[in-house]
Amino acid sequence: MTNQTFPKDFLWGGAIAANQAEGAWNIGGRGLSNIDLLPHGPMRQKIKLGQVPNPQHIDGEYYPSHSGIDFYHKYKEDIALLAELGIKIFRTSISWSRIYPNGDDQEPNQEGIDFYHDLFKECRKHGMEILVTLAHFDIPMGIVRKNGGWRNRQTIEHFTTFAETCFKSFSEDVKYWITFNEINIVLHSPFSGAGLSFSEDEDKEQILYQAAHHMLVASAKVVELGHRIAPHIQIGCMIAGGSFYPYSCNPEDVWKSMNDERKNTFFVDVQAKGKYPYYMKKFFEEKGINIDMEQDSEVLKHTVDFVAFSYYASRTSVADIETVEKNEGNVVVSAKNPYLETSQWGWTIDPLGLRITMNQIYERFEKPLFVVENGLGARDVINEDGTINDPYRIDYMQQHMKTMLDGINDGVPLIGYISWGIIDLVSASTGEMSKRYGMIYVDKDDQGKGSLKRIKKDSFYWYQNIIKGSETEI
Ligand code: BG6
Repeated sequence: MTNQTFPKDFLWGGAIAANQAEGAWNIGGRGLSNIDLLPHGPMRQKIKLGQVPNPQHIDGEYYPSHSGIDFYHKYKEDIALLAELGIKIFRTSISWSRIYPNGDDQEPNQEGIDFYHDLFKECRKHGMEILVTLAHFDIPMGIVRKNGGWRNRQTIEHFTTFAETCFKSFSEDVKYWITFNEINIVLHSPFSGAGLSFSEDEDKEQILYQAAHHMLVASAKVVELGHRIAPHIQIGCMIAGGSFYPYSCNPEDVWKSMNDERKNTFFVDVQAKGKYPYYMKKFFEEKGINIDMEQDSEVLKHTVDFVAFSYYASRTSVADIETVEKNEGNVVVSAKNPYLETSQWGWTIDPLGLRITMNQIYERFEKPLFVVENGLGARDVINEDGTINDPYRIDYMQQHMKTMLDGINDGVPLIGYISWGIIDLVSASTGEMSKRYGMIYVDKDDQGKGSLKRIKKDSFYWYQNIIKGSETEI
């Protein structure tokens, strides 16, 4: 029988991340993080892509992460709003440099531990489950400058120490964990993803895949550790999801789409199946990429409990990108899909793609899935009476929820759905505030000006009804 509604224990949620929301970048003993060196404006993209070796603070630039939406000081107010909204699970990340300011400190920073302890207690007080991402585009600059961040094998040990502190300190309250946010993004945005930047004479591909390997080993070690320290918790992996469609039925396009897909899913192959797939070994061999992985085969066997993914858009692969119109908006550049509309920021909108992605991932890994990010980045306008009408966001989410329900009815086990940027926050790609995903508006502009006042949008009340189960329009 086909379910018309979502399962009773379905985890409806909302997500933010430390690096885009907390602010308080140099408060409470927090050390400098890679995100703190990403300004708003034209330099941002170059630094994110790793094209600026050893980035430094630039005088006169505005750095949005330094103040974020001041979640650090306003979390009680924000969690109360999310409780009113009715979410069942709150997703955030732990800022690594708030716990280990330089990344390799002997002792953790107690003030940082206290902050997250209080935050998680506040969530639990309101009956919310918590999903923590250990690394969400976040690595202390101390270890980036000292040893090159994830390019260095030593970082595995530092990350494991950080994770151990987190499990020991918070696993009483936090049941769900993700090791790395969108681990596959390291290949596309190396500085924000892994603290990597390159000099011109370096073999970029070698470094990228070496760093990715270190992250995969760290992830597996942390899965083993977490299960040992707190057997009741569940630990997942996460990729930036969204299937790669072939642009046409030309076999060349189909082959390209298959290979593009593999660049994403090999991460999950390792994290969920415990070993590198044959095609990646071949890829490394053909490209002359040398990764010492023999010594890691045992540790990689510690596989995750669930597979999480973000879903914003599908992608379209074509053998020769120069022959078609490109879609430059999405973080992963691909061909423009002529059948689909795009958002104000050029991101492809493809609700059915969510059902397709769910089915493809489940078919391949047969682990429970978790949609941990989805939403529409759009400009919002405040009416004279102070209300905010965002029917475009409601429409986007409603369409995605419909296909998600179809996916569940297809037989895909889905733990929950977590809406991204439930409170407006700094955009990861552009550094803007005006690219808003929230159901709660935050009064702050792209230059950092504003009262930080929170305002409930129409989508707030709509999502509230969805969660209550009283919204019939799915
Ligand atoms: C995901 C990230 O890639 O997409 C988030 O995990 C990010 O950190 C989100 O904010 C939306 O992207 P953007 O660039 O619009 O903020």
